[in-house]
Amino acid sequence: MKRLFSGIKPTGDLHLGNYLGALKQWIALQEDYESIFCIVDYHSITSAYEPNKLNEYVLKCACNYLASGLDHVKSIISLQSRIPSHAELTWILNCITPKSWLERVPTFKEKAAKQEDNINLGLLDYPVLMTADIILYKAEAVPVGEDQLPHIELAREIVRRFNTTFGELFPEPKGIVGKIGRIKGLDGADKMGKSLNNCIFLNETKDEIWRKLSKAVTDPARIRKIDPGNPDVCNLFSLHKLMSHEDKIQEVREGCTTAGIGCLKCKRWLTDSIDKELEPIREKYFQYLQNPNYVGEILVEGSKKANLIAADTLEQVRDLIGFNYDFIK
Ligand code: TRP
Repeated sequence: MKRLFSGIKPTGDLHLGNYLGALKQWIALQEDYESIFCIVDYHSITSAYEPNKLNEYVLKCACNYLASGLDHVKSIISLQSRIPSHAELTWILNCITPKSWLERVPTFKEKAAKQEDNINLGLLDYPVLMTADIILYKAEAVPVGEDQLPHIELAREIVRRFNTTFGELFPEPKGIVGKIGRIKGLDGADKMGKSLNNCIFLNETKDEIWRKLSKAVTDPARIRKIDPGNPDVCNLFSLHKLMSHEDKIQEVREGCTTAGIGCLKCKRWLTDSIDKELEPIREKYFQYLQNPNYVGEILVEGSKKANLIAADTLEQVRDLIGFNYDFIK
């Protein structure tokens, strides 16, 4: 079986965008690949963060992974900072990566513009750490959002440079982008994200989902209930298409285009669909959250398994780059 690697930064509770854009795809892929799903805490410190929140964020991220259906028996669920090889390989890769490659990365330019007072080297080096994450496991498949593709391209370039400089060791990883594309937030404008306050969290109750959806942006041209709407420009219809049953989707399209239903009705139905899918996840999430030590053990076990693979790869790297000093046993 081919290897797969992916990760999410622990920045608090995961939301519907993470679920539809990443987790749901991972759950399907874990059947076909030997998968490593990592919580990438080293990546999360490249932007300002509160050290005393990290404990909670890592725990919640792990609970969301498990509650959504990642299987810690079938796959490896790991914590990046508990596997020292990630940071070590990053240093080695740093020394073959031209700085100019990193300065060209679009996410770096965006982040640098957003955090002008904190353009730290980690921010610039972010894609190299990501490369190390992937190639330590010789992973060939990397499910990511579209915004991450430049990072995968860079990883491939670093791999080529390593292989030609020191000898063939790593396969070139390939990004797998889901069919769904980016999930827009409830404002209908930006990508769904925690910091933009436009998301539905995976652990929210039906009432909370309804409260948020009732205020969400729909077809802006539909002002009165008696006006027919255009589902194809309505952000909530795209959520219906991802969350509702085929019959319901048809009913919404029909009702909206004929002004048979108003936006509130459509939002009620969407609340039902989202709640139906998230309810079992929410239930499991709180069970895991109440057993943090159990979740911690899963991460420790997963990180140990990951460490066996990673340390072995790092040993091969050390051999190739000339660190196998023969007078030191
Ligand atoms: N940068 C990724 C994101 O923000 C997270 C990530 C870190 C990752 N390391 C990775 C994804 C390795 C895939 C593979 O989504």
